Amino acid sequence: MSRQKLIVGNWKMNGSLADNEALLSGLSAAGGLSSLDVAVCVPSLYLSQVRDCLVSGAIAWGSQNVSEHDSGAYTGEISARMLKEFGVSYGLVGHSERRSLYAETNVLVGQKAKKLLEMGITPIICLGETLGQREAGQTFEVVLGQLEAAVECVGVGKLGKVVLAYEPVWAIGTGLTASPDQVQEVHSYLRGKLALMDANAAISLKILYGGSVKPDNAEALFQQEDVDGGLIGGASLNLIDFLTICHLAVSVTTH
Ligand code: 13P
Repeated sequence: MSRQKLIVGNWKMNGSLADNEALLSGLSAAGGLSSLDVAVCVPSLYLSQVRDCLVSGAIAWGSQNVSEHDSGAYTGEISARMLKEFGVSYGLVGHSERRSLYAETNVLVGQKAKKLLEMGITPIICLGETLGQREAGQTFEVVLGQLEAAVECVGVGKLGKVVLAYEPVWAIGTGLTASPDQVQEVHSYLRGKLALMDANAAISLKILYGGSVKPDNAEALFQQEDVDGGLIGGASLNLIDFLTICHLAVSVTTH
């Protein structure tokens, strides 16, 4: 089965109204992306700007975080219902920066994914090991623990509605990319574990790779059987780089 590739930009805490305007108008004018799913996950403050710029095109938009609560006295938090009002299609949860800098646990990440699903927003659940864990031979154990905790929260029946993003922590923002073989090994391991939970969902579920994806390494990564696209950090802030990565995903799909 061929899964349509998905390229997601994660702007992290970057952007300004003026910079966004230039990037978004370039994205909305881009052609040749019809065989691809594309989204940008932006700081929530910019969702209204992003919606206005992208609403008439094929590029979707998403959030980088969400509260695990529905509403109430949670100062500074943003609910899934609020995101829905701004037309959000995807929501990142469990990004390694959230896990390490804001102490998000596997269970919390699962709770956040559940809230997004309740609003019909696709959670992109991020997983990945640190360098220390990889060197200690714990990669599979770590990503499986992260996956199982999330599935326990969202329920196996919802697996067909999530996206996974494998982002080895040591490859994020470092310029160190995991090799295509290393990535494929983890992705196929994850898909194998998913198949034991729900065979159909395992076939259709997209697993993205993230970590220093650039125009010069994207193609080899996207050619891997179980790599269904990318979660792009730094390169998503540069219009040419991001579109080049998108077009490489298209060409891998069509050749
Ligand atoms: P970089 O592409 O900047 O390494 O970031 C990856 C990432 O964290 C995407 O979520």
